[in-house]
Amino acid sequence: MAPKAYVSPVVDSTLVFKQDIFRGKVVFCTGGGSGICRGMTEAMMRHGADAAIFGRKLERLTQTASELSEATGRTCIPTSGDVRQPNMLKEAVEKTLQRFGRIDFVICGAAGNFLAPISGLSENAFRTVMEIDTIGSYNTVKATLPHVRFSKGSYVFVSATLHYNATPYQAHVSAAKAGVDALAKVLAVEEGPHGVRSNVIAPGPIGNTEGMERLSNKAPQHLGINAGPVGRIGDIKDIANATVFLFSDAASFITGQVLPVDGGWEHLRTTQLPYPQAVLDPKSVNNMIKSRM
Ligand code: HXC
Repeated sequence: MAPKAYVSPVVDSTLVFKQDIFRGKVVFCTGGGSGICRGMTEAMMRHGADAAIFGRKLERLTQTASELSEATGRTCIPTSGDVRQPNMLKEAVEKTLQRFGRIDFVICGAAGNFLAPISGLSENAFRTVMEIDTIGSYNTVKATLPHVRFSKGSYVFVSATLHYNATPYQAHVSAAKAGVDALAKVLAVEEGPHGVRSNVIAPGPIGNTEGMERLSNKAPQHLGINAGPVGRIGDIKDIANATVFLFSDAASFITGQVLPVDGGWEHLRTTQLPYPQAVLDPKSVNNMIKSRM
């Protein structure tokens, strides 16, 4: 009988890093109202940072900010707006500075996604995702950079692994995330001399997010995607832990890098579903997508 595969544990970064490493620092996070970016913000707060979360749904942001403040003992404020609108970001940055006086860390996480083949993508649909993911990240950098320079802070962008190979029905997202990776690398090279670092986290299959459930119809842990080299599907905490590391001084020699946090999944994915049936049948595409996020 084959030996049982090892399953790596999900741990909380506070078991590994000191809890006060970000005391006196402030993190600004787009897309922080829910999902992965909420988890990234929470982890930063658990290590002492105060936070501002930015997104389109004020009600949700307000609730999240209140829950995070209560859970961590730090302060989180909601700042509402659309990353496609530079002025809204500038206002949010002003509000953050008025409340906390500084911005040290920025998470560019706001993103949009839906499944559609190129033949079914309108110009506006393609442009919308490019505008949210890529131009939205650029807008976020423009609004925050003078303040991040002042504090000699750092950026983390949230990208993906799906654009490393062609992922059907994800042309818009793949193009957008490739742009995010490029933006982050150039930022690192240009801003290094000013004391600013810039890195990318590329999440693999993360189970406990609404976005994932929406795209694949079911959470991946219910679809049998539970193996991979570390023996399990990813957790928001896995992305949060990488965030804490990349923002910490322990990563002071790391900049301009893309860090896949995917449990080694991308290396495993050597075969596609039967082709071309997989591309022609939307249900099969759902199955393919769920193994790549
Ligand atoms: C084809 C679609 C579509 C679909 C929208 N569009 N959904 N086309 N198939 N399923 C088209 C619309 O018809 C429209 O084009 C254009 O896209 C803009 O749509 P709107 O609804 O007007 O835009 P907006 O209200 O700004 O919504 C943005 C959105 C939406 C991205 C389209 O899905 C959204 O806000 N989603 C919530 C955020 C989200 O998706 N988060 C997921 C994050 S997870 P026309 O031509 O009709 O005007 C994530 C993971 C990425 O991003 C990485 C993967 C690993």
